[in-house]
Amino acid sequence: MVLKSVASIEDLRRIAHRKVPREFMDYYESGSYSEQTLRANRDDLAGIKIRQRILCGASNRDLSQSLLGVKQPLPLALGPVGLTGMAHRDGEIAAARAAEKAGIPYTLSTLSICSIEDVANAVEKPFWFQLYFMKDRGFIADLIARAHAARCSALVLTADLQVLGQRHRDIHNGMTVPPRIRLKTIAHILSKPRWIAGVLLGKRRTFGNVVGRIAGTENLTSYMDWINSQFDQALSWDDVAWIRERWPGKLIVKGILDVEDAREAVKAGADAIVVSNHGGRQLDGAASSISILPRIADAVGSETEILFDGGIRSGQDVFRALALGARGCLLGRAYLYGVCAAGEEGVTKAIEIIAKELDVTMALAGLRTIADIGKTSLVDPE
Ligand code: FNR
Repeated sequence: MVLKSVASIEDLRRIAHRKVPREFMDYYESGSYSEQTLRANRDDLAGIKIRQRILCGASNRDLSQSLLGVKQPLPLALGPVGLTGMAHRDGEIAAARAAEKAGIPYTLSTLSICSIEDVANAVEKPFWFQLYFMKDRGFIADLIARAHAARCSALVLTADLQVLGQRHRDIHNGMTVPPRIRLKTIAHILSKPRWIAGVLLGKRRTFGNVVGRIAGTENLTSYMDWINSQFDQALSWDDVAWIRERWPGKLIVKGILDVEDAREAVKAGADAIVVSNHGGRQLDGAASSISILPRIADAVGSETEILFDGGIRSGQDVFRALALGARGCLLGRAYLYGVCAAGEEGVTKAIEIIAKELDVTMALAGLRTIADIGKTSLVDPE
């Protein structure tokens, strides 16, 4: 089986590139503009040195953690990734099932192929729903009601996408509005017959959460046009208050990269925040998420739960983020590669790899529990 010899997230990434057409992999891999922030996320994590400790008697380790009041076996969640369903047939359902099996939350993106209801029917435990706040308040109210009816336990409000950061690779590939289909693209797609059979010819190929809202939602052009026209550049903290009033469950504000914004999120009633720069896909030139995490944790860590994402590709990376003040980490591309490589099994593999790496890292750092991980677990924390 394809996953037998997989040892790392990088191995899953290599398989992903073999299985999914280049244009979609570029969409998944790319960052905005010159991709400085995309690179900084990884480079800055790699620069953090973990303290090796010996003979600490750190056996029987416990990786469990509570996120938003729910105890789970790992300090992880799967973050929202738009168009996961183009990586594998029913990709969102595959990811949600793998997350449920691992006992961690799955976050369904507003921009998914499978709908909120599709995912709700496929899993038993509550999942999280990510909301892009758009101009059409009726649409937002409707999405919130659907997420509530589907028993989503948390709403993840993504606040760093009021305009879209340009990704050069998408433009080069013709992933524009309208899409420019080229001979090269057709050749890339034809070279992946299994992907064609599974994704392109699969029975579910709708943009699940917006079907019925706009005409022709089967069509990528009208869908992208509608999304682009819907981003609201005038969004403010008042809009977060508007959502807080309507959403009875947990509220998570995602896309925080500044202490002032973190304080505003606490004031607006966020139960948790995600320190994130959207995986380097929005403001190019912004700081890496990990470089900002400690100051946000210091400022508001006692008032709200701090989640983290941006460049996590290993259990060692999770350890680094926890040491600098995160309560838990959201995986992005790390599990998306698993979806591309082998659907549900691939995501399970990604979670297992990271969990095992975290466990071994804790052992070699001489620590038994997640609560033991802190700044003193690092060499020269700033
Ligand atoms: C994203 N991300 C994202 N975030 C969000 O709130 N809603 C979304 O629909 C998407 N879509 C999306 C698509 C793709 C292809 C990627 C790579 C990312 C951002 C995502 O939730 C997360 O913040 C980053 O992926 C974290 O960075 P890493 O771990 O992928 O480097």
